[in-house]
Amino acid sequence: MTFRVTILTLCSSLILATPVLTQGEKPRPMVEGPHGAFADSPGLNLKSNRDRITRYRRQQMRAISGNYRSIEAVIRYKAPFVDELNGHADALLDLARRIPKMFVKGTEMAPDKWGAKPAVWAEPSKFKLHYEGFERSIGNLKSAIDAGDPAEMERRLFLVRHECLACHKEFRVRRRR
Ligand code: HEC
Repeated sequence: MTFRVTILTLCSSLILATPVLTQGEKPRPMVEGPHGAFADSPGLNLKSNRDRITRYRRQQMRAISGNYRSIEAVIRYKAPFVDELNGHADALLDLARRIPKMFVKGTEMAPDKWGAKPAVWAEPSKFKLHYEGFERSIGNLKSAIDAGDPAEMERRLFLVRHECLACHKEFRVRRRR
């Protein structure tokens, strides 16, 4: 059974590594280097600065999410990486401080699509309250990490989460699945 699964995994990774081209599909560039050659994704066709900025912003949000989820894995789900908490919290704070820069004017979602609501720019002082509140909640979490109090860390982590959800409720439309 394990053997069959291994063979299957091997075959599928081979298929993934070979550039497959059906008619009309973009060629996948080969990335060559010390580990051999790999077929990469053909890349995006971003047509405007709005697309480029939006893509950057979404990747930054994912980085925010990855750091938050790593902290959650330790504090809430008890992964044994308590020593890493300070580093993750610093990274999260650093990303949070970039939020105002990421929301460049003219990069709201297209009407009836998903993304950043026009309210981000129509109600700047409200948006500011949210990103400042988010930064503050991370600062509070950092103090609890420094103090090493698990119950307080968990409580303050939930307050960080609260800031994500509150800002999303006002300013984000989720992608429909
Ligand atoms: C100050 C407001 C604000 C805060 C705080 C905030 N977000 Fe966001 N987030 C947004 C907005 C607006 C978008 C939509 C951006 C877009 O699509 O252009 C977004 C998008 C996202 C996305 C989707 C990215 C994608 O690829 O489409 C994720 C994931 C995300 N946020 C996670 C988080 C997490 C986790 C937190 C808290 C730890 C958080 N955000 C805090 C405003 C915020």
